[in-house]
Parts: sequence; structure tokens; C-alpha cells
Amino acid sequence: MATTEVTISPEELKKSSSPERIPDPCVVVIFGASGDLTKRKLLPALYHLEQGGLLPSKFAVVGVARRPLGDEFAQDMRDGIVKGGGVDAKDAKLDEFMGKVNYHAMNFDDADGYIKLKQLLETLDKKHGTNGDRLFYLATAPDYFAEIVHQLGAHGMAKPEKGMVRVIIEKPFGHDLQSARELNDDVNKVLSEDQIFRIDHYLGKETVQNILVFRFANGIFEPIWNRNFIDHVQITAAESIGIEGRGPFYEKAGALRDVVQNHAMELLSFVAMEPPVSFGAAPIRTEKVKVWKAIQPIQMRDTVRGQYGQGDVDGKSVIGYRKEERVNPASNTETFAAMRFHIENWRWAGVPFYVRAGKRLAKRATEITIQFKQPPMLLFKDSAGTGKCDEIQPNIISMRIQPNEGISLRFAAKVPGTTMQSCPVNMDFDYATAFGVSSANGYERLLLDAMLGDATLFAHRDGVEATWSLMTPILEEWAADPPKDFPNYAAGSWGPAASDALLARDGRQWRKL
Ligand code: BG6
Repeated sequence: MATTEVTISPEELKKSSSPERIPDPCVVVIFGASGDLTKRKLLPALYHLEQGGLLPSKFAVVGVARRPLGDEFAQDMRDGIVKGGGVDAKDAKLDEFMGKVNYHAMNFDDADGYIKLKQLLETLDKKHGTNGDRLFYLATAPDYFAEIVHQLGAHGMAKPEKGMVRVIIEKPFGHDLQSARELNDDVNKVLSEDQIFRIDHYLGKETVQNILVFRFANGIFEPIWNRNFIDHVQITAAESIGIEGRGPFYEKAGALRDVVQNHAMELLSFVAMEPPVSFGAAPIRTEKVKVWKAIQPIQMRDTVRGQYGQGDVDGKSVIGYRKEERVNPASNTETFAAMRFHIENWRWAGVPFYVRAGKRLAKRATEITIQFKQPPMLLFKDSAGTGKCDEIQPNIISMRIQPNEGISLRFAAKVPGTTMQSCPVNMDFDYATAFGVSSANGYERLLLDAMLGDATLFAHRDGVEATWSLMTPILEEWAADPPKDFPNYAAGSWGPAASDALLARDGRQWRKL
């Protein structure tokens, strides 16, 4: 089984895109370019687009960061493209592409730096014929987002002179409802909403987009996609990695802000939303927000938090969270969060959605499980308790977002033989087998869409505020009542016992992944 992320290869990407999907000439300016994201994800993604012939020929990239890096920057980015992007170091187009990559050192609050940046962009316009179109990508620490947007405005770079100026803003967008609102207000003072692209890289994943195709391009699932047939839904975003040296960031974030408020809530909305009137930014956004707004305030008893202690992951002993670099040795930051949601609408009333996300869990697996109700009577109940078919299992549709991307349907089949025994079996769709895989990441699609001005797969102001208004009361209650039992799960396990108890209380259990 392939374990790489699935996206379509550059050639397939090109085939699936009509010629008019190639953006106009532009310069992509990445703030925070010395960070990991630029090297591991953004530059490889831009290069995959280049390989696929999807970038305009008149194009340039400017990395902006505080350190004076000079040529070191280009070397580092090249390494990132080769290692992170799985590109052959001798690839014919690589040198040519690197010739378009520039670096500008400045402090993000330094007016002089913006004056020089503007001059650099004008020089690049002349050199590459990029015509004044800009895509700014804010990949800095979140504290700088408002400042950078303000400075771009103050230095005449936020409004297009001719073509377009768009700004991609990385997550986390705010750290609670109030700060998200303030950030929205700040950036909206300078930019119109159609210039702002709030990125959630989960929406760039093929498997996430496929949830909508699965539901709305097939006739057989939608009729049973509701409270009459579905018992409950589980969403797991499990990671076996720890915090990867990001102590200061993670200390302020925690699992709920880092993954649940954004990635997990996006997954939940795709599973739960009504069919949009069309596949466009506004209709999809409307349906997503309707789902989040229909979620009932979350009860504290429906939440679980955890923090990993020392343990074994993949056969190796790893340290506990409190011992990680630049982490408070008495930290109360949660590295695991689980909760139960109730979506009070016509389709979902009474169907719990259980969500869990965490670091240093037993394996990396992002998966959605739709568990159906049992048939009204168990005609073959005597078949239970026989060997591997030890009990009659409900039907399940499981969507593997990553790794081993695919979708399975579990149903009962008759065991060959003279008795009437049934056994759960799987019908499997596997991306790797059906389409092949490449090492590309979901950022290609999102960068391309932003260059083209397509906001369908980006978060909108209303959505960000809707998810924060669900999460903020939990964060506040957690902060007011510090955990007494941290660390409460061993690295390499499936999280704290309370997470299992959350489902056990309802007579359910997390699916074994
Ligand atoms: C990021 C989080 O948004 O998503 C990380 O900040 C997390 O902590 C990552 O590891 C997970 O992304 P993926 O694509 O590896 O599932």
C-alpha cells in the first residue's frame, strides 16, 4: 500500500485543467519564507505546477524573511524542492525555475523594508513581464498577519494598479472568537473580502475534495446520508509525530486550535452539508456555515483533553510533551482533543459526530467513519461468535483521507459452507490502484486557485468566526479549570482513557484504525 499523500501528478493535473486555468503573469511573495512551510510545501508545490505547465511563463517568486540569507535561500529552496517535492535534482526545468526565485530580507514592521520590497517587485515586473499582479502569502507567525497587511496598504501594495492583488493568510486565523474577529476587521480595513484567501491546506487534499464528489456525483449515497440510516459519524485526525521542534507555537496553540477548529471542522462540514446549488465559492461557503451554525453549544462533559507522556512510537521510545524543547515542563497545553457534536438540523438531529485529534498517537491516520444503523432485525444472529466473524457488525463507510487514501464499505457476506453464517467483508476503493500517486502536496491546488481568484476551497470570514464561536467556550472553560492529570496518555497509544469513555457512555466505540 502506498503511504505517500495522494494528489494528481503534474501531467494529470495539466490534463484535468482547461487551458484557461493558467493564471495571468504574477509575482508570488511569501512572507516568513525562511520557515519550514516554504521549503517543505510551498516551493515544491509551485515547482510541481511549473512542471505541469500550469504557471504563467511570466512569473517570479520573492521570499521575504528577517534573516539576511542571500544565496543560501535559493540553495535551501532547491533542496526543499528536490527532497520535499520528490523532484530529480537534474530536472531540466529546475535551474530555469530557480532563476525566478528571489529573496528580500526585512523586518515585518519596518517601513523602509516595504519601500524596498515595492522597488524590488517593480524591478521584477520589468525583468519577468509580470505586470504588477501579486499574490502575497503570509506564512509568518500569526502575530504579524495584521501588521503585514497594514504595511502593504500603507505602501501602496494592497490595491491592484492594473490586475490583481490577493493575500493568502495561513492558519491559525485568530486564537479565539474575539481575536479572529479583530483580525478579520483589521485585514478588511485594507483588503476587500475577495482579495483574502484564508488557507486550510486540508481543503487542498484530493481526498477531502472527494468527499463532495462521493456524496454529490453518485446517486446511491445521498438518499441514505441522514438520521434515518446513519447511527453516528467519527472523524479521527491522528498523528504519530510529536510537535517537531515547534514548542513555542504549540504551547500557545494546542490540539484544539491547531487541528480541530480548522481541519477537523472542515471535514465535518463536508460530511454534513446539504448539496450546494453549484460548485462555487459562495454556495459551498453558505452550506458549510449552515452546518457549523446548527451545531449545539458543546457541553463540557462532551469534551476530552489529553497530553502525551513518555512512550513508544513505531518501536522507538519518545519523550513526553513536557520534556520537548522549548516547552514549559509543567505545561497544560493539550496535545489531544476529542469531542461530541450535535448538529441540530433536519438531516442530522440525534446523530452524534465524534471528533478526535492528537499528536503522538499510535499511528498517522486521518479517517472519517460513517456508521449505519443495524438492520431492524438480526435474522442471522446465530452466526455470531464464530471465529473471526465474532459479532455482527454494522455497515460502515470509511473514508481514508491519509495515508492509504481510499474509501471502503463494510458489509456482511455469507461465509461459504453449509450453515448460514455471515461475516463482515470490505468493498475497497484505493486511490493508489485506481489513479496512481505522486509525492505532490495539497498546496498546488490552493496556490493555483488563489492565483486564479477561485475562493471555493478557502475559508471565509463567516466560517472562521462560526467555528471559533463553537471552540472558544471550550477553550475558556479548559483554561479556567487546568487539567489535574496531565500527562494522561502514553505516546504511541490512542489517547486518554476518557476518549474511549466518551463513546462508551453512548454504547459506542472508536473504530480501530
Ligand atoms: C497543520 C498543523 O495545520 O496540520 C500541524 O499545524 C499538523 O500540527 C498538520 O501536523 C497536519 O497536516 P497533514 O497534512 O500532515 O495531515
